[in-house]
Amino acid sequence: MIIPVKWTDEGVNMLDQRLLPNEEKWLILKSFTEVADGIRDMVVRGAPAIGVAAAYGVALGAKNFVGTNVDDLEEELDYICDVMGKTRPTAVNLFWAIERMKRTFQKAKSEGKSVLEIKQILIKDAKNIHDEDIESQRLIAQFGGELIENDSTVLTHCNAGALATGGVWGTALGVVRGAVNQGKKVSVIADETRPYLQGARLTAWELLQDDIPVTLITDNMSGHIMKQGKVQAVVVGSDRIAANGDVANKIGTYMVAVLAQKHGIPFYVAAPLSTVDMNCATGEEIPIEERNIREITHVQNIQLAPEGISVSNYAFDVTPNELVTAIITEKGVARAPYIESLKKMFEE
Ligand code: MRU
Repeated sequence: MIIPVKWTDEGVNMLDQRLLPNEEKWLILKSFTEVADGIRDMVVRGAPAIGVAAAYGVALGAKNFVGTNVDDLEEELDYICDVMGKTRPTAVNLFWAIERMKRTFQKAKSEGKSVLEIKQILIKDAKNIHDEDIESQRLIAQFGGELIENDSTVLTHCNAGALATGGVWGTALGVVRGAVNQGKKVSVIADETRPYLQGARLTAWELLQDDIPVTLITDNMSGHIMKQGKVQAVVVGSDRIAANGDVANKIGTYMVAVLAQKHGIPFYVAAPLSTVDMNCATGEEIPIEERNIREITHVQNIQLAPEGISVSNYAFDVTPNELVTAIITEKGVARAPYIESLKKMFEE
């Protein structure tokens, strides 16, 4: 059972995903700045996992605050949340978790709690965010598993597994695990996911741990494989879903969705409601992270591209809602028109 982020008395523990699959090393992060660096540097990655890590980071910052004045703690928390919010721009779970921690603080303050009490309340709520995330993935696995046919092959992009969430299930890989738990025979095709290789390094590693059959392909093979009839469903996660159902996810997802439509293959997105941003009307409004060009020009310190070459490194793209067959959440399966079905999920 993989749980990539943990709260301990010593600090926030993170499985260093930069080193997988070659090394399983846990880092103990003892300050909120270390947690923020861990998110920025991809020690932990994947939208729901980033949200959980940010909540723990805020709780850790509060725990380390020295003083007894609640207004001073509030000032410190504003600063901590600001630092945390500047780590990665696309995954909305980060901002969702920060806002929730802020609301928890405000409620405790309005109830006249002391600094010591507020620290405990914030730690408790960060743990609740973590537990709720795992429970959401369990439900996603159950609902999504029902959409997967017996004896089928699922293609996935990036890593939307336990490593990318609070743990245990994952979103896209949760759907696969759900189907397997329902007694279905399912295998996975994992896109390697250039340039950071979350598919080759993380999805492959995770599925091997669970004995779920997985075949790794390069990103440019998916069209060929779909054309041969070897894929029965595509399931991906998401970093932010707009109110109209446009889906931001790892760069290359849009390409896979277009190919899936061309070949009549259902394209499912699995994500908790903490990934749905009702304040973003469409995908146009979703900020797309651009990362260091070295991720493209180099592989593990070996230079592949000529010095000085101009490079674009967009980390995410947006798949328009008309290519999305369904969005699987912890509240059930949303279908088009998403503007209505997603709104309804928040009302239930
Ligand atoms: O850059 P990353 O590795 O954080 O990107 C992760 C993804 O794009 C995942 O597919 C997404 O966060 C969903 S994770 C359940």
